[in-house]
Amino acid sequence: MEWIVEERCEVEVWTIDGEARRNSITRAMLSALNAELRRAEQTRRLRCVVLTGAGTRAFCAGADLKERARMSEGDVHVFHQDLRTALRGIETSPKVFVAAVNGAALGGGLELALACDLRVMSAAAEMGLPEVGLGIIPGGGGTQRLARAIGVARAKDLVLTARRVDAIEALAYGLVTRAAPPERLREAALEAAAEVARNAPISLRQAKRAIDGGFHLPLEEALDLENRMYQDCLGTRDREEALRAFAEKRRPVFTGE
Ligand code: COA
Repeated sequence: MEWIVEERCEVEVWTIDGEARRNSITRAMLSALNAELRRAEQTRRLRCVVLTGAGTRAFCAGADLKERARMSEGDVHVFHQDLRTALRGIETSPKVFVAAVNGAALGGGLELALACDLRVMSAAAEMGLPEVGLGIIPGGGGTQRLARAIGVARAKDLVLTARRVDAIEALAYGLVTRAAPPERLREAALEAAAEVARNAPISLRQAKRAIDGGFHLPLEEALDLENRMYQDCLGTRDREEALRAFAEKRRPVFTGE
């Protein structure tokens, strides 16, 4: 098993099952992730996925460097395509992804966290993109997603120095939005997931599309995109349910229709 998948109705927890290799990314792990992403898309009850790593040492230590040593240049190319597919799959999924960064998130590990919608970090964890110290550059979207997440100046400060940041600096940089003591990390991530999952599924999907799709568009085009995403919510049963629940002074029960 490459992943441990805990199904908890609207929220699932996906744990990279590779503690001995510090949850580093293997070809098998990537292909299982792509399969889970396809399953998630078809799973109606599911609204939010918490993504984490086994143990306390690492969220994900990047590419599996031992497997990499046995790979041809062609294999590395295929690996990068699969990684790109998986990270775009997370980003464009109708489900919301919460990274629970339980330990080191380095290289591809940070890139995996960056593809998620929310990031919650253990106070004992660290994050970084060490690639320029290894004779390469971040190749899993790190140079692009990090700059989009925290700005060009801060991204350069991290990428060009290859340094690691702790939870205090990650919070100050906006690289994560929540931190928790290691023993409370899972609970904090599940709390965040529950806050997401109580909302209307179509709204979650449309809001994610509006934010991600509009970020780099000129404002008028971005507002048009937001408007299209908004219009798609108007005919839904969940919107009617929310209005009824408001009138009846109760919590709405959303079905994703
Ligand atoms: N690929 C394959 N194996 C890895 C790995 C990786 N990226 N990172 C760690 N491991 C393996 C180690 O080789 C070691 O295996 P061994 O027991 O067979 O010797 C095992 O995981 C434990 O590693 P260790 O460094 O002792 O664990 P730690 O808990 O002290 O530190 C890290 C954890 C993640 C901070 C540290 O392992 C690390 O810095 N790894 C490299 C990260 C990196 O540079 N990734 C590549 C980015 S491009």
